[in-house]
Amino acid sequence: MTSTVTAQQNSQKMDSFINTLMSKMTLEEKIGQLNLVTGGEATTGSTVSTGVEGKIKSGAIGGIFSMSTPQRIRAAQDLAVKQSRLGIPLIFGMDVIHGYKTIFPIPIGLASSWDMNLVRQTAQIAATEATADGINWTFSPMVDISRDPRWGRFSEGNGEDPYLSSKIAVEMVKGYQGNDLAANNTLMACVKHFALYGAAEAGRDYNTTDMSLHRMYNEYLPPYKAAIDAGAGSIMTSFNDINGVPATANKWLMTDLLRQQWGFQGMVVTDYTAINELIDHGLGDLQRVSALSLKAGVDMDMVGEGYLGTLKKSLEEGKVSQADIDRACRLVLEAKYKLGLFENPYKYCDVNRAKNNILTKAHLAKSREVAAKSFVLLKNDKQTLPFTKKGKIALVGPLANTGANMPGTWSVSADLEHTPSLLQGMKDVLGNKVAIQYALGTNLLDDPAYQERATMFGRTIPRDNRSEQELIAEAIKASEGADAIVAALGESSEMSGESSSRTEIGIPANQQRLLQALLKTGKPVVLVLFTGRPLTLTWENEHVPAILNVWFGGTETGKAVADVLFGDVNPSGKLPATFPKNVGQIPLYYNAKTTGRPLEQGKWFQKFRSNYLDVDNDPLYPFGYGLSYTAFQYNNLRLSTSKLQKQDKITVTVDVKNTGKYDGEEVVQLYIRDMVGSVTRPVKELKGFQKIAFKAGETKAVEFELTEEDLKFYNEKLEFVAEPGEFEVYVGTNSRDVLTSKFELQN
Ligand code: BGC
Repeated sequence: MTSTVTAQQNSQKMDSFINTLMSKMTLEEKIGQLNLVTGGEATTGSTVSTGVEGKIKSGAIGGIFSMSTPQRIRAAQDLAVKQSRLGIPLIFGMDVIHGYKTIFPIPIGLASSWDMNLVRQTAQIAATEATADGINWTFSPMVDISRDPRWGRFSEGNGEDPYLSSKIAVEMVKGYQGNDLAANNTLMACVKHFALYGAAEAGRDYNTTDMSLHRMYNEYLPPYKAAIDAGAGSIMTSFNDINGVPATANKWLMTDLLRQQWGFQGMVVTDYTAINELIDHGLGDLQRVSALSLKAGVDMDMVGEGYLGTLKKSLEEGKVSQADIDRACRLVLEAKYKLGLFENPYKYCDVNRAKNNILTKAHLAKSREVAAKSFVLLKNDKQTLPFTKKGKIALVGPLANTGANMPGTWSVSADLEHTPSLLQGMKDVLGNKVAIQYALGTNLLDDPAYQERATMFGRTIPRDNRSEQELIAEAIKASEGADAIVAALGESSEMSGESSSRTEIGIPANQQRLLQALLKTGKPVVLVLFTGRPLTLTWENEHVPAILNVWFGGTETGKAVADVLFGDVNPSGKLPATFPKNVGQIPLYYNAKTTGRPLEQGKWFQKFRSNYLDVDNDPLYPFGYGLSYTAFQYNNLRLSTSKLQKQDKITVTVDVKNTGKYDGEEVVQLYIRDMVGSVTRPVKELKGFQKIAFKAGETKAVEFELTEEDLKFYNEKLEFVAEPGEFEVYVGTNSRDVLTSKFELQN
């Protein structure tokens, strides 16, 4: 009661402050608030903002992004506060995606930890560091579901599952925003990219999306909604076209769904020049597309200055209304108000905080811990891993000696020159206990032009112009006398990320040839796999004894890999996305529908069944998969009742035993299947998971609760309902290997 009253009072206070301010603003000043420009430090498009200083003074800019340090931000804020007519402070944004200076694993890696406390902590640390450096708004979390690993931005999301991604979205928003958005160590979150950006056709970036409402509501929209329900202060439009209307001009999306159905009250910002890009989408000239976007419900225009240049004219011509402009202006001012910028525009400009709160020992230790927990052990035949800390290891491959690639894509503020490489990190951890002999082995890619495209933004991997034979021979030599070979292969950090789609998603052919040569030595070979997306690893899975997928682990990748390879940390990551056998199986995801002609379980090809002639329907590694140095056995799945009454709950219990000789963590996963529905339902849906630590030999009874709420979905009329009838429930170590039980939801 008291908190509702206070919230009401606060909002009245904000309204009256903004009413007063807006009553003094000219039309130009109102439009100026809608203009977001770059500070010139990092950009993702070809357009760069110009004349920024003059525009701030004339009130033609509402915010700046990609600018940092308290000194620079104070100087820009000074221009706004002291030299513009009304002294309205600027908002300062940045792509703080997986850490600010202390970089954490790329989001798909962080998602692989399935550890919600850690997820939240990474966002808190990112907020602490970014705000210490002057920033108060981050363009994160990115929660685009994707089922197409050809899409380069797979790396930036949480994978294929709406339930897992929603949980992560909530933790990220809470981690960034804390309990008090106006505190000087919390950031305003911006959920992106609204919407369906991950469903781009053919996995080609920025491409068309066409999707039924039924699929949208059930499978793609939940994480955005979860982030908004968690209180995210802003949302970013996506670049793509949705069922014929690009997101940035899509009134149904930005107003009917977002504001009216979901009750979103924050600010909507476009993606980089997304309004201007509506011209290329074929929606008309700049004036027309700017008016369309404003009327659709978009408040702030990133970089393109379509609003700045055309809204006045559109108002005069009756193409937009004063109310449209006022709405957008109010929402931008409210965001600033909630951040406390009117109270103190310099609250994020504390040089001492910048000195003391960034890249601290504690932050780096957390980064190392999270990195190790994001790694997924894909294969470990005959317990090749862990190694013992003695003898000699040969470390080979184009990803072995590149610090700049360790943070992974979208780490715009990382200090690339001081990020240790895998080689360095391993040396730091192992000291003189283990001799490490390094060799490049092969270039990242055969084709120098492709390699250049794949190593942009300072993520260079120098090419070695010796012949492939010479490079391989050197690697084989390095492995002489070694107890094992660690092959650091896969993608460079910029082989995923924005505008980095690929049609062949295997390890590049030249790297595979190196791997073949290494395997011929007969020594144990461990593939330490760097990647920003699921790769096709069919050959590797068949031939390489151990594969550790380390994604891109951030600043402390090198040390964290050593921690896991040498057994100080037992890997516990699980895949948040299916790994297909080949590109032709894509899209391949665990929560698929069945067909009228399903393949019989365990079969490959059956004529007139839904399958392929040349490959079976199974993934290489299923969703939720990941091994440990120890083993977990699941027994005795039991339900508290076989009949669930509405309003009641059912307890699902399973005994999980650590049967191996190592302590370890296990992600116990619960899935359901709605056996009969008014519409077709997925064969499995994740509805619960718990990450639990087990001592060697320990057994624990793990409990989940299910209520009617967990069984709900959007039906044909888009009503969110649970339909009475039979449900199967599955619990296991991944989405494939499960114990099964069932219950009935009663009328
Ligand atoms: C990306 C966004 C990002 C923005 C600002 C765009 O190209 O799609 O994710 O937030 O640039 O850097």
